[in-house]
Amino acid sequence: MQLRQKLADKKSIHSIIGLGYVGLPLAVEFAKAGLTTVGIDIVRDKIDMVNAGTSYIGDVAGEELARVVSEGTLRASDDFGELKDADTINICVPTPLRKTKDPDISYIVSAVREIQKNLRREQLVILESTTYPGTTEEVILPLLEEGGLAVGRDFYLAFSPERVDPGNVKYTTKNIPKVVGGVTPACTELATLLYRTANMNPVPVSSSRVAETVKLLENTFRSVNIGLVNEIAMMCHKMSIDVWEVIEAAATKPFGFMPFYPGPGLGGHCIPIDPFYLSWKAKQSGFEARFIELSGMINSDMPMHVINRVAEALNERRKCINGARILILGVSYKEGIDDTRESPAYDIIKLLQYRKAEVMYYDEHVGSLENAGDVPAFAYTAGNIRNLDCAIIVTGHREVDYRLLVENAPLIFDARNVLKDFKSDNIVLL
Ligand SMILES: NC(=O)c1ccc[n+]([C@@H]2O[C@H](COP(=O)([O-])OP(=O)(O)OC[C@H]3O[C@@H](n4cnc5c(N)ncnc54)[C@H](O)[C@@H]3O)[C@@H](O)[C@H]2O)c1
Repeated sequence: MQLRQKLADKKSIHSIIGLGYVGLPLAVEFAKAGLTTVGIDIVRDKIDMVNAGTSYIGDVAGEELARVVSEGTLRASDDFGELKDADTINICVPTPLRKTKDPDISYIVSAVREIQKNLRREQLVILESTTYPGTTEEVILPLLEEGGLAVGRDFYLAFSPERVDPGNVKYTTKNIPKVVGGVTPACTELATLLYRTANMNPVPVSSSRVAETVKLLENTFRSVNIGLVNEIAMMCHKMSIDVWEVIEAAATKPFGFMPFYPGPGLGGHCIPIDPFYLSWKAKQSGFEARFIELSGMINSDMPMHVINRVAEALNERRKCINGARILILGVSYKEGIDDTRESPAYDIIKLLQYRKAEVMYYDEHVGSLENAGDVPAFAYTAGNIRNLDCAIIVTGHREVDYRLLVENAPLIFDARNVLKDFKSDNIVLL
């Protein structure tokens, strides 16, 4: 049966490769729309947890996952042979940077090789991982066509960027519009039909290259604007102007201004990484993406700026970083989530330890802090807070009792302005 008809009859089988922050919510949305879905991952623990109906991703409600698993619409497997039965395959694997800041698309290539072994007529393959313009056509297409099947005629290939914002309850995988760009018009049409069948809101564009660039524009826009406001924050500090008050007042303009806020550095899997996918590719066409490089430099200097400001504030209190007991408050890269990937907390901890501070951390969302050496968890009590020399708020979480902190800490360096409702001499703002 033709894929178009199978989708219309909801007789299609769907596969999602990579059950992480992006893939698991997508798999659950497909299953909730009544589409039989098989998630494929290489990590056994994740497969076992999905099949037990247990969620390990904050944005996926345990009850919803358990329901679709018990109804039989979603299951997980590590057997890539199952791809043979799938009518559609969405790829949601990681796309990190190498140490040299070059794109690492090895996870995509490895997933695509598995798909190629199982590729058959009337299958639709969609890449959702963020990547540089041209990946779908220049890397995936030749691999898939190795077996002799032709795109647009025998099988279909498209790119649709995942735009999920972890922790955001208003905009989720389901209601964020899905930009879709196929390698041929038939590919775009079928990919659009898939998302519509899954009750999502697809936005077709003319090519996979355009769809790839859309995602990178969105994340570059954020990185550049954060870089700009970080520079303004450092400038305002030099001029003794309260940058937070400036932004708050500027944001009253009903048009032409969108507030971005300074912070201790970029984190997460997207904003610190994705713009470099674009600048890397642009370089190959002889183009230097100056805004990307500059905002990258400013944003990655922010942890050092925090250290300098903390040293300055300690100095005013006749103290120094060497030997100071310093608490890092909030180590996930943003509010309300447990994800610490690329978190600026790591850089700040490293810089403090290098200067021989005694560093501890507290984060209600993060059970253990991996890759940070010897950083003990802090018991958040008034007595312990009183024994600190400084607390640095790297990430604010709603659940934290900040009153306890303000009433007991000798010095608080607030890099997020989460203490805006408190007035106290011991608070120093970024
Ligand atoms: N996390 C976000 O907020 C977010 C938002 C938008 C886009 N993205 C992009 O989506 C992609 C996935 O990101 P993520 O945050 O979900 O990553 P993740 O690390 O949470 O999940 C990736 C999953 O893929 C699995 N995997 C790795 N190689 C595999 C392979 N060869 N076969 C099968 N499974 C494999 C991993 O075990 C993991 O479970 C990345 O390109 C990322 O940039 C992420």
